[in-house]
Amino acid sequence: KILGIDTSCDETAAAVVADGREVLSNIVASQVETHQEYGGVVPELASRKHIEAINYIVSRSLAEAGVTFKDLEAIAVTNRPGLIGALLVGVAAAKSLAYCHNLPLLGINHIEGHIYAPCMVHDALPFPHICLTVSGGHTLLVEVHEGWQYKVLGSTQDDAAGEVYDKVAKYLGLGFPGGKVIDDLAQKGNPSAVKFPRPMRNTDDYQFSFSGIKTSVRYFVEKARRAGLLVENGQQDVKPTNPAAVVDVLVYKSLRAVKATGAAAITLTGGVAANSHLRASLKLAAAEIGAEVYYPPMNLCTDNGAMIAGIAYQKYQQGLRDGLSLNATPKGSIF
Ligand code: KG4
Ligand code: ZN
Repeated sequence: KILGIDTSCDETAAAVVADGREVLSNIVASQVETHQEYGGVVPELASRKHIEAINYIVSRSLAEAGVTFKDLEAIAVTNRPGLIGALLVGVAAAKSLAYCHNLPLLGINHIEGHIYAPCMVHDALPFPHICLTVSGGHTLLVEVHEGWQYKVLGSTQDDAAGEVYDKVAKYLGLGFPGGKVIDDLAQKGNPSAVKFPRPMRNTDDYQFSFSGIKTSVRYFVEKARRAGLLVENGQQDVKPTNPAAVVDVLVYKSLRAVKATGAAAITLTGGVAANSHLRASLKLAAAEIGAEVYYPPMNLCTDNGAMIAGIAYQKYQQGLRDGLSLNATPKGSIF
């Protein structure tokens, strides 16, 4: 049983997981309300909120799992990448607890947690597989090999996919975060009503670029507003602005990766994996080439401590142990 802690961004999360798969508890305190009025995550506020919540969230994760520190084998914590002040809170808490209870400490890469999440619920997942991680902070296409070895195929050159949804919602006055509201509105609209650009769709690599889509939607919205076509928060009129362009590029490049590598499956994870258009399009496109698509339930897609405890179990088996000198770093590749 491993306690997993994640405070990398705006969720204070702790979970207890047995054998890398059995989620005994998974507690998440969201800070959305704190950041909502600013239209995005304010790093300093995030750190303060983590400090307020961390002890309670850890206690609750143990209580809900019905365990005490004596039942734990190790403590795992996200120590990279993320907001430095936010990461430091989790790392300091995990170090103190590891010291007090004389438990091994493991520093975990947040992205590896996301990549591992689909494997927690699908035990027959084939290797190698392609993993598409899409969230408010990351867009990454990775080839995942046996033994949790990774080959990064591509990432975003600028904005993360989730950022496009968040920014578009902001332009339209639809609140923060924007993914879900845009997704819901798009259900009723016509995704191809307005042709937005598909940056880097046809480049001969697996890199992404989303800032152009964001800017293009912004100009469209400003023009529509000037022309009186867009009522403030007029949901009727924003439906066609669904950034289907984001989904199109993600699906196209992921499928190209599956074909090129001969992988039998693709996994989808991160907050944007909740997007219904993305899920449906990826499933449809994968079915055409006989590839399976796997995604975890929503509470394992978004930031959580269970995925950290899960991958930590695999790393623990491989012999990973970090000392109390473990440090937080804002950047961190998965190589
Ligand atoms: O993984 P996550 O909870 O936190 C990060 O690590 O960023 O992802 C949050 C992101 C936000 O950008 C949010 O707008 C987006 O996921 N998101 C969605 C949907 N639900 C959440 N994006 C598109 N469609 C959704 N249904
Ligand atoms: Zn994340």
